[in-house]
Amino acid sequence: MKNKKNKSAFFCQSCGSQSPKWLGKCPTCNEWNTFVEETISKEKRSSSTRFNKDNIPTLINQVVFSDEDRIDSNNLELNRVLGGGIVKGSVILIGGDPGIGKSTLILQMSLMIENKTIIYISGEESQNQIKMRSQRINANSDSCFILTETSIENVFDQVQKINPDILVVDSIQTMHTFNIESPPGSVSQIRECTSQLIQYAKQTETAVFLIGHINKDGALAGPKILEHMVDTVLQFEGDRNHIYRILRTIKNRFGSASELGVYEMCQNGLREVNNPSEILISEREESTSGVAIASTIEGARPIMVEIQSLVSSAVYGTPQRSSTGFNLRRLNMILAVLEKRCGFRLGVKDVFLNITGGISIDDTAIDLAVMCSILSSDQDIPIPLEVCFAAEVGLSGEIRAVNRIDNRISEAEKLGYKKIIISKHNKLNYKDYKIQVIRYSKIEEVFRLLF
Ligand code: TYD
Ligand code: MG
Repeated sequence: MKNKKNKSAFFCQSCGSQSPKWLGKCPTCNEWNTFVEETISKEKRSSSTRFNKDNIPTLINQVVFSDEDRIDSNNLELNRVLGGGIVKGSVILIGGDPGIGKSTLILQMSLMIENKTIIYISGEESQNQIKMRSQRINANSDSCFILTETSIENVFDQVQKINPDILVVDSIQTMHTFNIESPPGSVSQIRECTSQLIQYAKQTETAVFLIGHINKDGALAGPKILEHMVDTVLQFEGDRNHIYRILRTIKNRFGSASELGVYEMCQNGLREVNNPSEILISEREESTSGVAIASTIEGARPIMVEIQSLVSSAVYGTPQRSSTGFNLRRLNMILAVLEKRCGFRLGVKDVFLNITGGISIDDTAIDLAVMCSILSSDQDIPIPLEVCFAAEVGLSGEIRAVNRIDNRISEAEKLGYKKIIISKHNKLNYKDYKIQVIRYSKIEEVFRLLF
């Protein structure tokens, strides 16, 4: 038997789990019809997996580490989400929907970094296309190389000649290795290419950026294990019809995993937004009904967001509830509390809720603002312009305390709000706010004040 060395196995294309035979349903991730046969040829295993005798254990207090091991990306928002710059030798995966701006973000970064050699490998676009994009974002660099290549072996050949500080791979799904016979984009290919790139990063102290596609459920396409393998996972998200984009940390071995960066997609590339609150709140001259402002915390940053609701009589028997940027179940819960505790007959009304700017929030501290915006629309009574909210609402209509209240209040104060409504149970560390802090324990008290 000549083919003895070529083994084949079935891999789930969703989570990467392996099985000797075909299965209809993946026992690991419960997805249906995801198993595909892939051939693994063992003969060309890379030599680097062999033992390395020089590799000896070191005492942890003798390991030298300095902050210089981070490269300044020249991009405040990116530095922030990475925890203070690009760590040398780290592997960073950036995921996001097609067309959201991943390639733009990374190309822009590659062209802006000073005094570092960067090589940008693209398996998706030609050199001309990349050049055109660089002209569009109006940036140039004399230390950034471009290579159009999909074979990982050729990539390593070329990369070794240049020895860059940063290596960018756009996208990991287009790369393939000769070691494995399955097509590019399949789980074993992605996994093998990634593990070779990780090995390269750790051995040469090169920072590696991988761009990854996202499948229709929003998860990173290809195996979930990709997320386990790399050091940092960032997600680039936003509504494609809006200009704002959010770069979120999902995982970070070298910093906080709840950081957030905000960008604006302009005609000439991405612009950093260092003060997101200002853009998320629309300019209003006079107050309109159905609008409430909440002070929320995304990652480590306080942000003011605008919540808009529209309540109208239901045309059909079953009222519609629709929500953009806010959890629909939470909206239903808030409606139920309103109905039960305040006697508002919302069961016969359609309710539409929208968080402006195309961002989505799952901070429960915006509950009170959501509730007030719904009532404001229902009653057609505007909430005064200078009022904002930061509190959670419980099932019995109680106003609950939220975390990091001082940051929320300061952000509201900074943006010129005159009154903020919070829970009576929130302890303030700092008392001398210029903004008037109004503390309540029941939603009825808030409604009496506003409506
Ligand atoms: P791209 O970076 O190609 O997305 P991805 O790599 O995530 O698939 O982004 C492409 C989109 O961004 C495209 O719809 C056009 C838009 N765009 C701008 O609006 N301004 C620009 O300066 C650039 C370069 C792109
Ligand atoms: Mg792209």
